Amino acid sequence: MAVIQINGGRVLNGELSVSGAKNAVLPILVASLLTDQTLQLRNVPHLQDVTTTMSLLAQLGAEISMDDGMAINISSANLNSYAASYELVRTMRASILVLGPLLARCGRAEVSLPGGCAIGARPVDLHLRGMQALGAEVEVKNGYIHARAERLRGAHIIMDTVTVTGTENIMMAATLAQGTTIIENAAQEPEVVDLAECLNAMGAQISGAGTDTITIAGVSALGGAVHTVLPDRIETGTYLVAAAMTGGFIKLRNARANTLDAVLQKLVETGAEIHTGADWISLDMHGRRPRAVDITTAPFPGFPTDMQAQFTALNAIAEGTSVISERVFENRFMHVLELQRLGANIQLRGGNAIVKGVEKLSGAPIMATDLRASASLVLAGLVAEGQTRVDRVYHIDRGYENIEEKLSALGADIRRVTLPRNAPAKVAAA
Ligand code: EPZ
Repeated sequence: MAVIQINGGRVLNGELSVSGAKNAVLPILVASLLTDQTLQLRNVPHLQDVTTTMSLLAQLGAEISMDDGMAINISSANLNSYAASYELVRTMRASILVLGPLLARCGRAEVSLPGGCAIGARPVDLHLRGMQALGAEVEVKNGYIHARAERLRGAHIIMDTVTVTGTENIMMAATLAQGTTIIENAAQEPEVVDLAECLNAMGAQISGAGTDTITIAGVSALGGAVHTVLPDRIETGTYLVAAAMTGGFIKLRNARANTLDAVLQKLVETGAEIHTGADWISLDMHGRRPRAVDITTAPFPGFPTDMQAQFTALNAIAEGTSVISERVFENRFMHVLELQRLGANIQLRGGNAIVKGVEKLSGAPIMATDLRASASLVLAGLVAEGQTRVDRVYHIDRGYENIEEKLSALGADIRRVTLPRNAPAKVAAA
């Protein structure tokens, strides 16, 4: 069993290169199902969720190889299944993204319902309604989605709620539909734009990605393409917050500032000095303690919910009191209970967390519950006095490539330790 062990108190200082975006590469990998030609992807991050997605594609009959330039080549010429099992889908909810492409390419899909997760119920009703709008017959039975369609046909779809993967699923399905599809109240996230750019490189005719109205003119077939995955804005934001919490300096290369304006604006409010270039972002706190900032999460271009836990950790040690309002998911404060174990002063009231910044946190054994919560616990460990041990680090490996190596390179005292299975939780120093 692996844990991440941190001795807090180091000021971070240095440069890092940002990896490709998890939430862009997952739908883009699945887009390979839409063609019998080869899709080549560059800047693919080495993450558990990427490995899981490639296993799912291989189960469907895709052939995947990596060339010596570290590019991933995927060919779905010989698909031999349209079923995505519960065993796999329950390990990664984003597997629901195969629904649209399988329907468009094979006319059938048998995909397990993803079920809930730590941060909320996360239904997929809008995915299913979108497929029905495109002319598919959809039935949910025994925990599986059974969908079929001779040929999907274009439709005018107004989304009840902004949903990132819902928008992506419908957009992918619509690329091969007969006629034109318009998606209104579409998600505007940069990852949706990156997927649309890849699909257009494959021969799709998509316009409006990045706005709330996306138009897809269906084509008869898609071809291969070469696509470089955009940098991960959440990884970028996570390391910026890490440097801000320790009062340090960081320069991030291969970063795209215009994908995280709301985050940069909040970091400036905490007192950070931010500079940006075409493909880099720097942050300098000049040794200062951050000031508390209020956060309300919203779909892009609003403040991203995937950065909420990290800013809760920052506010826990900031100067002043802040209110964090989580408006996207109904249960995304699991990290608060663990931060309180480190001495954070946080009150939960409905969808809000009221955070009174404290001078110091004290290290303790804590447990990760979901991907971004685990990142916030590592960040808190960087500033907590003494040793912090974060358990269940498999959560963090889903979305962060080599987090302990990257933080060590910035000066943190952090390492991954494999403990014997029944190791007792070490009582933190009094
Ligand atoms: C994507 O999840 C991201 N995952 C999430 O990142 C991110 O937190 C989320 O978008 C919001 O930005 C990937 O892209 C793989 P939603 P997704 O559908 O698409 C409700 C991370 O840490 N909803 O935009 O599943 C839903 O319950 C992960 O990297 C419905 O009601 O999120 C939520 O309240 C966590 N019905 C809201 O919409 C539906 O059919 C937004 O969810 C679909 C969604």
